[in-house]
Amino acid sequence: MFAWSTPVALAAVLAVTLGQALRQQNETTKRELEEYIADKKAEINPRYRPHYHISPPVGWMNDPNGFSYYKEKFHLFYQFYPYDSVWGPMHWGHVSSSNLIDWEHLPTALIPETEMCFSGGAVVHGDDLVLLYTGRVTTDTDPFYNETQYLAFSNDGVNFRKYEGNPVLSYVPDNSADFRDPKIWKFKDHWYVVIGSSSNKRGRVLLYRSGDLFNWEFLSVLGESDGDMGYMWECPDLFELGGKTIFLWSPQGLEPKGDRYKNTYQTGYYIGELDYETFEFKTDKYFQELDYGHDFYATQTIQGDGKTYLIGWFNMWEVPHLEKEDGWAGTTTLVRELQLIGTRITMNPLEGIQDLRTDSVHNGDLEPQQAIEFGPTAEIILQGCLDQKIELLIQGKEGGLVTTVTWDPEVGKVIVNRSGEVRQVEWVPIGKTSWRLFLDASSLELFCGEGEVVFSSRIFSDGDWVVKNSSPQTLSVEAYRLRRSVPA
Ligand code: FRU
Repeated sequence: MFAWSTPVALAAVLAVTLGQALRQQNETTKRELEEYIADKKAEINPRYRPHYHISPPVGWMNDPNGFSYYKEKFHLFYQFYPYDSVWGPMHWGHVSSSNLIDWEHLPTALIPETEMCFSGGAVVHGDDLVLLYTGRVTTDTDPFYNETQYLAFSNDGVNFRKYEGNPVLSYVPDNSADFRDPKIWKFKDHWYVVIGSSSNKRGRVLLYRSGDLFNWEFLSVLGESDGDMGYMWECPDLFELGGKTIFLWSPQGLEPKGDRYKNTYQTGYYIGELDYETFEFKTDKYFQELDYGHDFYATQTIQGDGKTYLIGWFNMWEVPHLEKEDGWAGTTTLVRELQLIGTRITMNPLEGIQDLRTDSVHNGDLEPQQAIEFGPTAEIILQGCLDQKIELLIQGKEGGLVTTVTWDPEVGKVIVNRSGEVRQVEWVPIGKTSWRLFLDASSLELFCGEGEVVFSSRIFSDGDWVVKNSSPQTLSVEAYRLRRSVPA
């Protein structure tokens, strides 16, 4: 798939950045991996393969990593195990895009050596794209792993060299083994990083800073579970939005509570303020989930031009991944634009997503029991009267799982029922009352109103989509087929 230049010396090639030694990853291993990927791709069963969501070329994907903008392109990396469609020693897969909609695969960016390459972030420094990731090393003593932070550099956005002096950050207060998923950003003269951790079975997040990326100083425990907020906090993120600081992360171990926390793990946020003098994050600790669907975890954000974009892993841990028998597993959500409206983060697809529309399949009234037939992709914008029930029945032309998406005015909730697995939440529209749905070959994303309620759920049906109005009322519907924007 990729034209590799003539293999250079197999021995480690040393380069220098910021006066520090870097080591080329083994060229033969890299070349063989790309050849393996190119061969293996031919065996993939395409039935559930996304047409406009990022997925691995082959094998397993989990968290998106290192969402960044470098040399006129967006870059996104992801937790990747190429050799099977289950989790394994973590590599960093790599895709890039100039518009956050059309994506191309690039060669695998990080290959595990003595360390597995766990999640992390990326920043641009001088002429380099810099990756800061967790190196997870197996040890002989309980809990049999150690996590510290590693650096890798690229000056072309394709080839990454690891820093010879890794790890650069290993100090954890009370020596907890869980110390992963750095999110790095710059403020004034310093680099800052938040890292997920755990202390006495309580999740927490740690804040550090550095003047040069190589030497780090511990600043504070930025947040910690008081006992109710889980045993481990993964994938922390901290960013400014609407004049506030958002602390967004993925806690593990929340007890199910009514409609909430029904997935294995959650992703949500506190709103507050970060004080760069005391390194304290002041918040009322009101935890809100960002997305209410079945499959949403481990998000990454990027900011630029006054915009904040987010992408998440469009799967969940410890659930069946039905595509895995097809030679791949895992995808990401659409990139979404975030806004803070009052005390709620709204999420909406990018404006440019309209460019995916190929042809209009319906425009006007959709009577009760009337159905629309699509191909493997669809965008549906619908408006109904909220005094009555609204319901869409989503199924494959040839069977498979049936999903309903419902507004129930009796309880004031939006409900996504995937063959009996229900996720639901109260919805009080803050503005418009229309819905926007995106169907890809094995996924549903539902954006309600201004994006204050969003569901992301993987759904698996056989054959192309058929969407029926199963409400008692006539709905007003605009519907489109969408084109491919990722490699097959
Ligand atoms: C989150 C996570 C991270 C870790 C990575 C390993 O889904 O568990 O904490 O870095 O996956 O693949």
